[in-house]
Order: sequence, then structure tokens, then C-alpha cells
Amino acid sequence: MRLVLLGPPGAGKGTQAARIEAAYNLPHIATGDIFRRAINNKTALGVKAKEYIDQGKLVPDEIVVGIVEERLNNGDCQDGFILDGFPRTIEQAEALSALDFDLDVVLNIQVSEEEVINRLSGRRVCQECGATFHLEYNPPSEARICDECGGDLYQRDDDTPATIKERLDVYNNQTAPLIKYYQERDLLTSINGEQSLDNVFADISEVLEELS
Ligand code: AP5
Ligand code: ZN
Repeated sequence: MRLVLLGPPGAGKGTQAARIEAAYNLPHIATGDIFRRAINNKTALGVKAKEYIDQGKLVPDEIVVGIVEERLNNGDCQDGFILDGFPRTIEQAEALSALDFDLDVVLNIQVSEEEVINRLSGRRVCQECGATFHLEYNPPSEARICDECGGDLYQRDDDTPATIKERLDVYNNQTAPLIKYYQERDLLTSINGEQSLDNVFADISEVLEELS
């Protein structure tokens, strides 16, 4: 199964991708996670990507497309994958389509801007394994400690009010046009993202069961 998770920042793409990965044994490719790892490791890619990410802007298409292409050709993606955070522009979608990995479905996780702001302001992420929590909606059992691996939880640098606003603008201008793009190609299914984590996953599973 080849699927794309689309949605505004904080829609729950990463949270649901982790569940889909576990339930369906599909590789989870998250461009944001790839960049954050590169930033932590202070690689040349990380230094370049940080300039854009800290301002809430998109990393240029030519950089992102090269990374995704390399990852998809890695060997473990032949039987399927979950793309989370890619494509994010029409140009990226065209580049993906040229790679001949025909998609089965694009899941558009819908949440309001107000909810995006609540979710991103309360998000905490594990420094070690990347697991995502929310102070109120999905709290860790012990304050600031990851339930999965015991690692420390931190707040992302781009989860500040000014950067969240910029990311929402970027989403509306550059990413939202993909909804129509995939609708026109009969690939889009919308999911109500403003439900409990379990109910969002149940709706996603229903769509995926129909496909498999
Ligand atoms: P990226 O990491 O992809 O960020 P994003 O798209 O802004 O998405 P988020 O990770 O913020 O949110 P999410 O939808 O995964 O939500 P989550 O599950 O964490 O990208 C970061 C940056 O990298 C970009 O700004 C850009 O600069 C660059 N970049 C990445 N990809 C790129 C590309 N293709 N091209 C160019 N640049 C690129 O959930 C959010 C919170 O809500 C969590 O706290 C969670 O616990 C909580 N939550 C989740 N679901 C629910 C629920 N149902 N109810 C209550 N709370 C919930
Ligand atoms: Zn962890």
C-alpha cells in the first residue's frame, strides 16, 4: 500500500503514521523527521534545512525531492510506504508522480486552525525516538519522560506562536492546492482529524482495509 498523509501542521500526520506503520508494517517516511535528524547531527543538509524550518518556510523542492527519491529507492519501499509531510507543493507532487511509484490513496486529515494552534503549542517530542505527546490530549505517564523509551521530551523550535502562524500561511498557500490536485486524480479521501486519536485511526483503518 502506497499512501500519502496530507494535512496542516499539527493535524496528527506523524501520530497516525506511527500507528499505521505498526499496524500495517509499512515504512514511515517523514521529511520533517529526516530534516530534524540532520539538524541534530549538524550535517550539511541539516545546516541548510534549519534556515528554512526555523522560519516556518518550506525547504526548497530540489533538496526535498532528491532526499525522498533516494529513500523510496532504498529497497524496503517496494511493497508500500507512508509518506508524511511530502509532497507539500504541486512541484513535489509532479516529481513524485514522475518516479513511477503509483499511489493508492492520499488521506487528507482535516482540522481547524484553532485546533492546530492548541495542538502545536502543547506538543512535546522525544529527543531519542521521536515519539509525539501532548501535554493535555496525549500526556506522557511521567512529566517530560517518553513512555516508549524513557528519553527526554522537548518542545520543537518551530512550535512557537510566530512560527506556527507562518507555517499555517505556508500550508494555505503552497500545500492546500494539493487537495484539488489529488481530488482530480481520484486519490483523495478526507478524514475528520478532530476526533480522539483512536477514532481518527479507526477511520483511517477503514479506508485502508477497503484498499487491501
Ligand atoms: P513537519 O515535521 O512535516 O511538520 P508539519 O507538517 O508542520 O507537521 P507536524 O509535524 O507539525 O504535525 P503533524 O501533522 O505530524 O502532527 P502530530 O502528529 O505531531 O515539517 C517541519 C518543517 O520541515 C516544515 O515546516 C518545513 O520547513 C520542512 N519540511 C518538511 N517536509 C517538507 C517538504 N516536503 N517540503 C519542504 N519542506 C519540508 O500532532 C500534533 C500534536 O497534536 C501532538 O502533540 C499530538 O499528540 C496531538 N494530536 C495528534 N492527534 C490528535 C488528536 N486526534 N486529538 C488530540 N491531539 C492530537
Ligand atoms: Zn522516546
